[in-house]
Amino acid sequence: MSHPPTILITAGPTHEAIDPVRYLANRSSGKMGFALAAAAAARGWNVILISGPVALTTPPGVTRVDVESAAEMFAAVRHHCPQADMAILAAAVADFTPLQCADQKIKKSGPGTITLTLEQTKDILGSMRHEFAFHGKLIGFAAETENLLDNAQQKLIRKGCDMLVANDVSRSDIGFASANNQVSLLFRDGRPTLHLPFMPKSELAKHILAQCAGL
Ligand code: CTP
Repeated sequence: MSHPPTILITAGPTHEAIDPVRYLANRSSGKMGFALAAAAAARGWNVILISGPVALTTPPGVTRVDVESAAEMFAAVRHHCPQADMAILAAAVADFTPLQCADQKIKKSGPGTITLTLEQTKDILGSMRHEFAFHGKLIGFAAETENLLDNAQQKLIRKGCDMLVANDVSRSDIGFASANNQVSLLFRDGRPTLHLPFMPKSELAKHILAQCAGL
């Protein structure tokens, strides 16, 4: 790995436009991804932070690329990942997007119900190894509301990750909007799963990066 290493981090939600004024989003605040970016910059690493729409300030020393939709995040990651030695994809990317975005604001006149047809977005993490030919260390997140460790283990393998951060998003005291989190780290190389205690996301970011540095 070159010194200092370059790390690409995705963060935040994505917004999927329905019409010029409306969008589909999720509860991600971006705090975990931004905390990782801050901790990586504090280690002296070069950081490219690809962020969805969030209300957070850019940590010092971080190069930030703003995107809105899953498709824009996909394109930005594809563009920037060749420069990276390591990637942590922490964004809560929309899995579905409206098949069409209306040109004009959708009006209320009509039958009283409307139907949105959604299509699946492309899986950015799942595209890293083959489509983007990314050979660096790859860290994914798994946001789960049930069967956390089983689902996370499957994601680790399926998406070609070296490490996966398993996040129980059914708990309101941790995860999405919270300043704290509690996660487990799963490894591809056979190391036992590490169950980290409840802590602020800023502290957790340092633990995660220490594990990344050891990969
Ligand atoms: N991810 C991504 N691109 C997507 C969807 C997810 O890069 N279109 C990444 C996330 O950034 C995260 C990982 O994939 O690192 C897992 O996200 P998660 O929402 O837990 O899983 P999904 O792949 O969406 O699977 P499912 O919804 O079936 O649980």
